Amino acid sequence: MVCLRAAVCLVGLVAAVSAKPAVRGRALQQYYTYGSQGDDWTFGECESTIRQSPIDLRSEDVDVPPVGTKFEVVLNYRYANCSEVIISNSGHGVQYDCAELALLPGEEEVGGDGINGTDIAGEMIKQRSPLTAGFGGSYTNETFYRVLQFHFHAPAEHRVDGNQPALELHIVHQASDGSLMVLGIFYDVGREPDAFLQRLIDAGFPPANETMTYTDPLGLSLADEVARFLPTELPGLPLLAYHYKGSLTTPPCSEVVDWYVVRGTLTATRAQLDAFDDVLITEGEGNFRDVVNDQNVQDLYFTTVTTLF
Ligand SMILES: *[C@@H]1O[C@H](CO)[C@@H](O)[C@H](O)[C@H]1NC(C)=O
Ligand SMILES: *[C@@H]1O[C@H](CO)[C@@H](O)[C@H](O)[C@H]1NC(C)=O
Ligand SMILES: *[C@@H]1O[C@H](CO)[C@@H](O)[C@H](O)[C@H]1NC(C)=O
Ligand SMILES: *[C@@H]1O[C@H](CO)[C@@H](O)[C@H](O)[C@H]1NC(C)=O
Ligand SMILES: [Zn+2]
Repeated sequence: MVCLRAAVCLVGLVAAVSAKPAVRGRALQQYYTYGSQGDDWTFGECESTIRQSPIDLRSEDVDVPPVGTKFEVVLNYRYANCSEVIISNSGHGVQYDCAELALLPGEEEVGGDGINGTDIAGEMIKQRSPLTAGFGGSYTNETFYRVLQFHFHAPAEHRVDGNQPALELHIVHQASDGSLMVLGIFYDVGREPDAFLQRLIDAGFPPANETMTYTDPLGLSLADEVARFLPTELPGLPLLAYHYKGSLTTPPCSEVVDWYVVRGTLTATRAQLDAFDDVLITEGEGNFRDVVNDQNVQDLYFTTVTTLF
């Protein structure tokens, strides 16, 4: 293999890694554009008026959960280190998949040594036991949600009291019944660089319509990034997230997503944010869907999220 250290190796050059090209069809779909920031989408459920995303997370709309309802959500993370990351650039976003996926309950490892299987898009993928494979996952409401992929939007899709942060990370989790949970994390410019973003910048971004494999002997983990929200001086203090039931923000805009958008922003340097802008903003158009009308605000709650790593 022609990869040095945490080197980036283009698929095709790394025959030793996998015999099957790791192109993920879903990530490379090209049938929509951000020309009108999503206002013109007629695909799937995009025109629904029930629970479309993103929305403006307005302080005055955040409700106190009704008495007697459970509102504390435990994100019981078992983030794993992924050593082989598949990076795909669909032309309107850069997505990170692990060559391995955690198994969901009911799924079986294919092949006696668990080296192959298929993901929901029918692509060949390696699968291993839930706690140790891929990017890991979270036990939320006693259900295992594996990390399916993560990706970025520049500028952010959700707004906070009308403000649009510079960058939004979406960590997409999937349960065995197909339901999705997405953890959203905002970034804005600040003095402190973000180590996780820097690793992704160092890994590099494939050109539009291309996929590459990033091999990292230490493994890439989301744990540190989520942990950055937890105040070190007050260990155990939960973080707050805006929770509402919304949709995918890309076609077909399926209304199946439990959104947890973490309150507050992480900081990155101007240079780091510029690196993401360079690949995510094409011809002046950011890869964000504009906020939809206020259809969800009656169900917007602050949730106390307790993370256990
Ligand atoms: C977890 O449970 C709470 C309370 O029942 C619910 O509001 C929330 O949507 C659930 N989250 C997920 C991801 O299922
Ligand atoms: C995962 O990677 C982190 C660095 O990102 C490292 O601190 C940690 O020890 C690794 N965990 C395992 C199980 O290798
Ligand atoms: C999985 O791998 C085994 C051998 O490694 C092979 O016989 C089998 O056909 C593969 N399964 C699929 C679904 O490709
Ligand atoms: C990527 O593919 C789409 C659809 O095939 C095409 O319209 C677009 O020009 C391609 N972009 C680049 C940079 O090749
Ligand atoms: Zn997204």
